[in-house]
Amino acid sequence: MIGPIEKFGHVTEGGIRQLVDAFYAKVRRDPELGPIFAAAITGDWQPHLEKMYAFWSSVMLTSGRYKGNPVAKHVAIAGMTPELFGRWLQLFDATCRELYDDAVGDVFLSKAERIAESLKLALFYRPDQPWPPTASA
Ligand code: HEM
Repeated sequence: MIGPIEKFGHVTEGGIRQLVDAFYAKVRRDPELGPIFAAAITGDWQPHLEKMYAFWSSVMLTSGRYKGNPVAKHVAIAGMTPELFGRWLQLFDATCRELYDDAVGDVFLSKAERIAESLKLALFYRPDQPWPPTASA
């Protein structure tokens, strides 16, 4: 894919919009993740994208723009599995590498990995089950 001539070396609201737009374009085309998002977001995508701009702005720029409860939202999504987080992170990683230099890309990625892990624990951890979960569990 042809990326920007120069990658972003710092984080701005405009850069976050580009990242979120490019990431969800990949998600929607993805054979694993696409159908899950298509089932959950049946109408206009823009409200979801606006929420995600605010979310990443809060995470990366500590702007406090995002208000919400991601755990409650994800619990309600049909078809979620622990394995899907790996796919989500692959696509997010690829998008970060296209748009950002290594240093900033690494920060996005480490934040995303930590949030993915805590979402995965909140959704799937059971004290009486092995962790990490296996396909047969
Ligand atoms: C298996 C991986 C994931 C899937 C399938 C998934 C799917 C979704 C879907 C379908 C929505 C829209 C829910 C709705 O509007 O009803 C959503 C919202 C959201 N997702 Fe994910 N997600 C995943 C992982 C993540 C990760 C790793 C993060 C953060 C790093 C994240 C952050 C969010 C946020 C902040 C929202 C908005 C919640 C709100 O409405 O306030 N998601 N996700």
